[in-house]
Amino acid sequence: MQLPDRVRIREVGPRDGLQNENVRLTTEDKIDWINRLADSGLSYVEITSFVSPKWVPALADARTVARGIRRKKGVTYAALVPNLQGLSEALAADVDEISVFMSATETHNRKNINKSIDETYPLLREIVKEGKAAGKTVRGYLSMVFGCPYEGKVEIQQVEKSLYKLLEMGVDELSLGDTIGVAGPQQVREMLAVVLNSIPSEKIAMHFHDTRGVASANCFASLQMGIAKLDSSCGGIGGCPYAPGASGNIATEELLYLVHSMGIQTDVDEKSVFDAALFIERKIGKPLASKVLQVERTKLKENGGSTYELGKGTKR
Ligand code: HMG
Ligand code: MG
Repeated sequence: MQLPDRVRIREVGPRDGLQNENVRLTTEDKIDWINRLADSGLSYVEITSFVSPKWVPALADARTVARGIRRKKGVTYAALVPNLQGLSEALAADVDEISVFMSATETHNRKNINKSIDETYPLLREIVKEGKAAGKTVRGYLSMVFGCPYEGKVEIQQVEKSLYKLLEMGVDELSLGDTIGVAGPQQVREMLAVVLNSIPSEKIAMHFHDTRGVASANCFASLQMGIAKLDSSCGGIGGCPYAPGASGNIATEELLYLVHSMGIQTDVDEKSVFDAALFIERKIGKPLASKVLQVERTKLKENGGSTYELGKGTKR
């Protein structure tokens, strides 16, 4: 079995995580968290969304967050952009990368961005064109790749069509979203076997929500298929506010445990991510879903100090 030697983790907690939290964090706490995540060795952090504050009130401070963070060399600071208004805000805040997003299903697309899929393509094309002209790299998210809460099963042809459209527009990377966490490893392998026939693996990242506890198995299946970019959320927080039943992404510390245990390199310090997860858990004020965090929290209580074992708090 050939697994990648190295995995690039895309940290999406400050965006995918906080967009779905009822507890409002202060802008200062968001900035502090993002700085901690970047300091842990994560080379990619999705910091916020420049979306309508009426639609996602939790990220209404996008501009202040983007301007307030410390920019660490070698880290890509990315943000979601739904339209040209969002793009111009994101450019003014000088994010490194913009992410356009759409859904493979008509109903979720409308519920999420108030447009049909056919209306969405020309809009995203314009955003990608202007974003690239401004010197930014662009990521294209496709949601509901494995199933939709409104439409059920999603046909692979539907997925392929949107992926090709996004590539034609010039996106640098695609992120395939299991938005409501319905996929299983066999489905992931089957989907990737088809997609990888025509799209190189370097262009693909996988984005698993852990609604049913199999996101880790799905990440493993993706690694087996040669995918080396995986999205995760520190603490496991998150979900799409317009996809009922969606819970957070696989927790970054769970993903690190998984890949490091197989000798796959990341350059990310597990202990720092665990500390960042504890930080955000305290701020949110309730126990988070991350299983690694649960273990470590218990050990902390029992021993009065961290006994973090795997990696012993160092890069591996
Ligand atoms: P709309 O209501 O059709 O937009 O929403 P509009 O153009 O009619 O504007 C309505 C109001 O919003 C106006 O303000 C605009 O100025 C304002 P008003 O005149 O009423 O005072 N507005 C904005 N304000 C700030 N920034 C903007 C912006 N745009 C308009 N960019 C719109 C359309 C796309 C704006 C809305 O539907 C929206 O913001 N949707 C975002 C929803 C969202 O963020 N969902 C979660 C992210 S996707 C996700 O989580 C999935 C993913 O993780 C992958 C996966 O898991 O599968 C990526
Ligand atoms: Mg998501």
